[in-house]
Amino acid sequence: MKNKIIIANWKMNLTIKQTEILTKDIIKEIKKIKNLDNIEIVLCPSFVALSLVANLLKRMKKIALGAQNCFWEDYGAFTGEISPITLNEIGCKYVIVGHSERKKYLSETDNMTHQKVKSILNNNLIPIICLGETFEERQKGLKEFVIINQITKILEGIKLKAHQKIIIAYEPVWVIGSGQAIEPKEANYIRKVILQRLIDLYPLPIIRNNIRIIYGGSVDSKNIKNFVSPDSFDGVLVGGASLRSDEFIKMIKNLL
Ligand code: PGA
Repeated sequence: MKNKIIIANWKMNLTIKQTEILTKDIIKEIKKIKNLDNIEIVLCPSFVALSLVANLLKRMKKIALGAQNCFWEDYGAFTGEISPITLNEIGCKYVIVGHSERKKYLSETDNMTHQKVKSILNNNLIPIICLGETFEERQKGLKEFVIINQITKILEGIKLKAHQKIIIAYEPVWVIGSGQAIEPKEANYIRKVILQRLIDLYPLPIIRNNIRIIYGGSVDSKNIKNFVSPDSFDGVLVGGASLRSDEFIKMIKNLL
């Protein structure tokens, strides 16, 4: 069985000081938990707090570091952008790409996400690729079409070598930050739609060993168990509920 994964996406919610306090609280509590062998924990602070969190995590092998975005070129005249090379250098293992908030506020397209995924893989990082339909698309009966189309645009033409891994995060856009996750049954149905499209794109051993599919959207300690199981999602991407250490730790414990 694949390791379960819980990823905290702190977005732009914390100052550097607040990030430090939250990270220290989480580390303190994680040290007390036994049997964490089958769970991977990932923290994704803002860019400016990455090196601070990387330092705090130095002796904490159980927690990995992730970035919330990156650019698709390694170097160059791209003012304000962040290279995957530097993310690697700083100690990141994961990079979130294609998040719906970047699509909404910064006009990120599936083609940009495609380029970012290529570059992230080339730099030996693991992309966490966000997919999901909006409420309007769902109401028009288009959710399957939208999901398949996003996977195709983002992943078509990207071959995965034996050592390269990706994570696909299904995040229905309309439940992000709403406090109300979707029905686990509906989410699991979309997981199967994603899997079916992946089967057309990649050999089965690659899907089995190199790709994880996770759920995101108003996950908390009460509902986390409904989304993660051997015949459902491999893990979760958590926004709001990861901003409080007690709630985040409860989620981890509920995954054990
Ligand atoms: P949420 O955010 O848990 O606050 O809904 C999830 C996300 O945006 O990744």
